[in-house]
Amino acid sequence: MEKFFATCPRGLEQLLAEELQQLTAKNIHTVGGGVQFSGEFSLCYRTNLESRIASRVLWQVATDRYRNEDDIYRTALALPWNDWFEPPLTIRVDVSATRSPLTSLNFVTLKIKDAVCDRIRRLSGRRPSVDTRQPDVGIQGHLTDRDFTLYLDTTGEPLFKRGRRIAAGEAPLRENLAAGILRLAGWLPGIPLLDPMCGSGTILLEAAHMALDIAPGLGRHFAFEKLKNFNRRRWQELIQQSAARRKPRVPLSIYGSDISDEALKSARVNLAAAGLEKMVSLKRANVLEISAPAKEGIIVTNPPYGVRLGEQQELAEFYPKLGDALKKKFTGWRAYILSADMRLPKLIRLAASKRTPLFNGALECRLFEYKMVEGEMRKKRPEA
Ligand SMILES: C[S@@+](CC[C@H](N)C(=O)[O-])C[C@H]1O[C@@H](n2cnc3c(N)ncnc32)[C@H](O)[C@@H]1O
Repeated sequence: MEKFFATCPRGLEQLLAEELQQLTAKNIHTVGGGVQFSGEFSLCYRTNLESRIASRVLWQVATDRYRNEDDIYRTALALPWNDWFEPPLTIRVDVSATRSPLTSLNFVTLKIKDAVCDRIRRLSGRRPSVDTRQPDVGIQGHLTDRDFTLYLDTTGEPLFKRGRRIAAGEAPLRENLAAGILRLAGWLPGIPLLDPMCGSGTILLEAAHMALDIAPGLGRHFAFEKLKNFNRRRWQELIQQSAARRKPRVPLSIYGSDISDEALKSARVNLAAAGLEKMVSLKRANVLEISAPAKEGIIVTNPPYGVRLGEQQELAEFYPKLGDALKKKFTGWRAYILSADMRLPKLIRLAASKRTPLFNGALECRLFEYKMVEGEMRKKRPEA
């Protein structure tokens, strides 16, 4: 049994734990920013291939007590690095810490790098080089006040890079955050879904992949493929099982619109690159003027967030109109709006039935839930 740690956007840990449960992981334990779990080695292949929420899957190769940098060096030196990789593969070491008494994480990073290189050179005669930009092998150290844990990254490029988004558009959401929001919204394939400010179409794309049961990792490569213990046969089996599950491509009740031609162009390019342009309806429209594409459904969207002063003012005028439009034209729908703008809940003048803190990268956001029920929605007083 191997131990792993999967990282994810903060706020989505519980959803990731549920995914891991479905992947039959054992000893699932949720912590801030990720989930610990264990299973056979190939479970990390499946998690990389199937998880829509994880950002990275780390394989735990050591954990020990430490008091100083030399303890860390010794722990790292004792590991059989040559069993996992050798030059010409390049490495990168990263270290994070919570409450560590050590003053320089850079020094710890250097110590781990030295230990890995010393060990490998001892057996193979060559030292691996460091490549901080595109390393073949990522090594991560984590320090708490007393314990030191070392991981090998099995992912490589983070998992929110599905290997399919080509056009980025304005402030695109990370794919795993989009998937998480769809799950938090309780959206399930078959329920009409609308993103009326769809930008480059991240939410639509994630939804279409969920509806057609297309694994997010089909069509990209992973760091574990470069390790010496890579079991190509097992990996091929997993890919084939996953590909066999894909549903036939039929038009879906997934709708996107945006006011910007540029944004729609990006969304079209991205959907076409995934072969999904015929499955999702796209049109150019102002969210304040559209009507509901179905009697009931779910809106999932993230409005623009203004950075400059003029944009701030425009948004302050936009939110009440958005609230009005939702109220008038989307009775019977639920809306989930992700925003980092803490003025939105007050200015939209609708009563939020739920607010979930989430992080888009380092940006703190809230996911606001609004249930559009006839007559009852309006807040008597603006929310403080
Ligand atoms: C933060 S971006 C959405 C990004 C998107 N979630 C993605 O991942 O690419 C906000 C989008 O809202 C659009 N927008 C702004 N005002 C709008 C309006 N009145 N009606 C429709 N779309 C609007 C912008 O063109 C922009 O594409």
